[in-house]
Amino acid sequence: MILEVKLRLNSIIDTETLAKIIAEKAFKGMIVGLTGDLGSGKTTFTKFFSQAIGVKDNLNSPTFTILKIYEGNFVLYHMDVYRLEDIGYDFELDDFIYGDGISVIEWYQYIREMLPKNILSIDFKVIDEDARDVIIKGEEEYEEIVKAISNRYSN
Ligand SMILES: Nc1ncnc2c1ncn2[C@@H]1O[C@H](COP(=O)(O)OP(=O)(O)OP(=O)(O)O)[C@@H](O)[C@H]1O
Ligand SMILES: [Mg+2]
Repeated sequence: MILEVKLRLNSIIDTETLAKIIAEKAFKGMIVGLTGDLGSGKTTFTKFFSQAIGVKDNLNSPTFTILKIYEGNFVLYHMDVYRLEDIGYDFELDDFIYGDGISVIEWYQYIREMLPKNILSIDFKVIDEDARDVIIKGEEEYEEIVKAISNRYSN
């Protein structure tokens, strides 16, 4: 069963809080898939997530490189596959996706068939300058994360 939670993030601080809650439950091999329009907050979320898992380097958008690797309490693979269509699908991402690190993938829907069935997905929607609606979904090993988010916001 897929668990799902919908939230309104009223400011960038709320996005940071969400990233922290997810980071508290982070595990090796975890995959987070991000979708949403340009400028909806995928990289911003990833930046806060990286800080919350102990990455000291400043995370920035990997759009022109597809993949950037960071070291914190976990190894973090930050991918943005928006341009993969131009570059070609021969790029070998499996070693990372199926490795021990954590993968956060912007525009993951473009490579959905390359990914395991279970991932944590977050879909961002722009509401206004500071507000974003997100739909977070996960099953099996990701259920606990969705429950933690849901508990945090229901009180
Ligand atoms: N609640 C919020 N959460 C996230 N970002 C926000 C929020 N409110 C405002 N913003 C702003 O929205 C912008 C989001 O840009 P960001 O680069 O994170 O988007 P993106 O989804 O990664 O875009 P792209 O598809 O181009 O990679 C930033 O300028 C950020 O400061
Ligand atoms: Mg981005």
